[in-house]
Amino acid sequence: QDVRLEDYRPTDFEIETVDLTFRLDPAQTRVTSRIALRRRSGTKADVPLVLDGDELNLVALKINDVAADNECFAATPSSLEIRDLPETEVFTLEIVTEIAPAENTKLMGLYRSNGVYCTQCEAEGFRRITYFLDRPDVLAVFTTCIEAPTNDAPLLLSNGNPGETGELGDGWHFAVWHDPHPKPSYLFALVAGDLAVVRDWFVTRSGKPVVLEIYVEHGKQIRANYAMDALKRAMSWDEERFGREYDLSVFMIVAVSDFNMGAMENKGLNIFNDKYVLADSDTATDADYANIEAIIAHEYFHNWTGNRITCRDWFQLCLKEGLTVYRDHEFSADMRSRPVKRIAEVRLLKAHQFPEDSGPLAHPVRPEHYSEINNFYTATVYEKGSEVVRMLATILGPTEFKAGLDLYFSRHDGDAATIEDFLKCFEDANQVKLTQFALWYRQAGTPVLTVSARFDGRARKLMLDIEQSAPATPGQPKKRPMHIPLRFGLIDADGAEIKTSDIEGIDVTGDVMHVKRRAHKIVISKVRKRPVISLNRSFSAPINIHFEQGTEDLFHLARFETDAYSRWQALNELALRGLIAATGAVRDDTDIVPDEALVSGIIASLEDGTLEPAMRAQAVLLPGEADIARELGNNIDPDAIFEARNGVLDIVAMTGADAFDKVADGFTPSGRYTPDAESAGKRALYLAALDYLSRISLPADALLPIFRSADNMTIMAGVLAILAHRFPETAAAETALAEFELRFRENPLVIDKWLQIQATIPGQATLARVKQLMGSNHFSIENPNRVRALIGSFSAGNPTGFNRADGAAFAFLAGLIIELDARNPQVAARILTSMRSWKSLEPVRQEKARTALVAISEQPSLSPDVRDITDRTLGQ
Ligand code: ARG
Ligand code: ZN
Repeated sequence: QDVRLEDYRPTDFEIETVDLTFRLDPAQTRVTSRIALRRRSGTKADVPLVLDGDELNLVALKINDVAADNECFAATPSSLEIRDLPETEVFTLEIVTEIAPAENTKLMGLYRSNGVYCTQCEAEGFRRITYFLDRPDVLAVFTTCIEAPTNDAPLLLSNGNPGETGELGDGWHFAVWHDPHPKPSYLFALVAGDLAVVRDWFVTRSGKPVVLEIYVEHGKQIRANYAMDALKRAMSWDEERFGREYDLSVFMIVAVSDFNMGAMENKGLNIFNDKYVLADSDTATDADYANIEAIIAHEYFHNWTGNRITCRDWFQLCLKEGLTVYRDHEFSADMRSRPVKRIAEVRLLKAHQFPEDSGPLAHPVRPEHYSEINNFYTATVYEKGSEVVRMLATILGPTEFKAGLDLYFSRHDGDAATIEDFLKCFEDANQVKLTQFALWYRQAGTPVLTVSARFDGRARKLMLDIEQSAPATPGQPKKRPMHIPLRFGLIDADGAEIKTSDIEGIDVTGDVMHVKRRAHKIVISKVRKRPVISLNRSFSAPINIHFEQGTEDLFHLARFETDAYSRWQALNELALRGLIAATGAVRDDTDIVPDEALVSGIIASLEDGTLEPAMRAQAVLLPGEADIARELGNNIDPDAIFEARNGVLDIVAMTGADAFDKVADGFTPSGRYTPDAESAGKRALYLAALDYLSRISLPADALLPIFRSADNMTIMAGVLAILAHRFPETAAAETALAEFELRFRENPLVIDKWLQIQATIPGQATLARVKQLMGSNHFSIENPNRVRALIGSFSAGNPTGFNRADGAAFAFLAGLIIELDARNPQVAARILTSMRSWKSLEPVRQEKARTALVAISEQPSLSPDVRDITDRTLGQ
């Protein structure tokens, strides 16, 4: 069914307190929920109460402590409707339900993961535990009592502060938790089991001590140290940067091995996919460490942006997610290298959000209707949502942005707020209007700026014509002009920045042009010599720019732009142009001849000792196959792209052989591994050099010993990927894969890397390998991490393998989605989004993709999750 933003209405009843008692059992957990309700003023006495449920089974119901008459309620698995309620304003219900955590394969609600009871309630999982007003604008104070056999579950956790504990007899015990902060049900959590703990502490800046606990499987404590360190840094940073202090005496994180997404910000009790907690140098890569740091921070930051201030309804999801992603991006930028972080953000945005925005699943940052909310935890809500907050900061300026955010925190603490509430704070704090800016939340699609420039040397004037447009997206054929903050710079021939105060035709503050109209005719005066124009510095707006800028100008920017991110952007744009041209050459069956200046520009960046190693690595990491496909937009032949890209990389490798050798030889693993950004940058540069050298002078047999002598997972997995991808099916590659498997077969998170590396081996043959790996005992369709590592990386990260011209991989995916959907719809729906760009394929592949989608669609018993993705992907 279609839920619409415009239909929002507050509930007729409010819930003041919730007292939950769980009597835990894998097959028969009894949940007793005592809730104190109050009629909202204006609610008539005869209005029935309708509580949400999902696959529930009602055991008993009491109203004001008296068993309810059968005539006055109706219970189904998905709702509990109660009529003839007491006429008093306040009354209590006691609802008893019985659930089976061990059979809960959807991993929503209360389930078991590796013998540990845990919960996931966002967005609508709480209704799988008990009947409730399961929506984010119903805030209540929760008290939770957990009862369990002491052997099976010595540890009993829930939100808030710990209360009474004790024995119950018969080997059972209990623990009570009380959360003083009113919260919506999606933030409820419970964990029970036998886990080890790593403990530390933090003193808030106002002097309150907080106990920090990270719970992991026994024996894995040492691997939680980095997460703990990241947590403490995040807590201090949020105090300094945003003035946010923690508000309970304990903050707990639990790592579980079966989890539908990354992590969850339950009040005081964050639950994590163990992939984003556990790390040591033998088993985690630099990328894993960076992800852990970011996600630990993200969930912690939700305590204010999400929990203290929550969302009125799920349409406002970006209110907490976009803002919290922005906060975690800023945190990582402060902890690491800001320009390198910015490059990673833009790469991710373009790889995931841009395709989403230009395909059948496009939706606004704040959607206006949905049929299944789980399908809206998207790159658009999260990543574009973050970019929108970043633009707000750019438009207002740092002081003004901070004033608005401070007002938001003080005005809406304890509220379930909306995007309008959020924007109003920035308006009120700064006496500005953000009416046009608000369109960023309402209009889907990546805006396009078409720019042309003309320099009149005699008049010393630079003329810029800027036009904005936005493509049609599902349900939104026409778009209104938006407020686009376009950072810019003018660079003279010597590489110096030209000061520009004399600008007409557009509002400018600092280096930001405020594009607001459909078209701007801009005149910049007193410009003596023809400048090189740099647009969208530091990627100030998530847009596409069409600007016929000469290659020489781009080279100039790649060398002289003062903004480090923008130097990379210029070089990357040049590389993309070269790769597009090469793809054309492959399709026309002519030779690939990349611009010499491009090749030498790339090599010059590689050799530039003034740049940090991570930056040099980014410079040689050319746009990927998916980037090229996105730029081409339609009639995609992934094989041609693959061949073209390899052709260009081969030439760069040959031309830069000496430089790559020098980098590789100069790399000394400096003793003990440390995960800091600087050391990670050196490893990234080294691996990039090896990748190029594997095209010329480093054959598989020479890579094998490098693989074997690696003393950390970053290098080991990096070299394994080069071996497997560049030399598939050679003895050396297969040997390395076998040795890796043997060494890490007891460690599923590392085996995920092994699955992923194999799933992304380019070419036709990989489908057979994926099928064979599905049959191995390392794979399990029940575990989301395994499914994502093998199937997710094959369908979303292997353009030539997945888009086989014969359509065999599409058909395989369709079968798998149908099978997975019966167990875990949320993960099935997520994996299926890898088909969202099917219409941009060349006609033969497109038809095969359509056939596979139709095959899914014809299944009679699809989940709402997969039904929604299938329908929208097919354009129905
Ligand atoms: N709020 C969590 C986070 O971003 C993610 C929850 C995702 N829930 C879902 N049903 N997909 O940190
Ligand atoms: Zn989040």
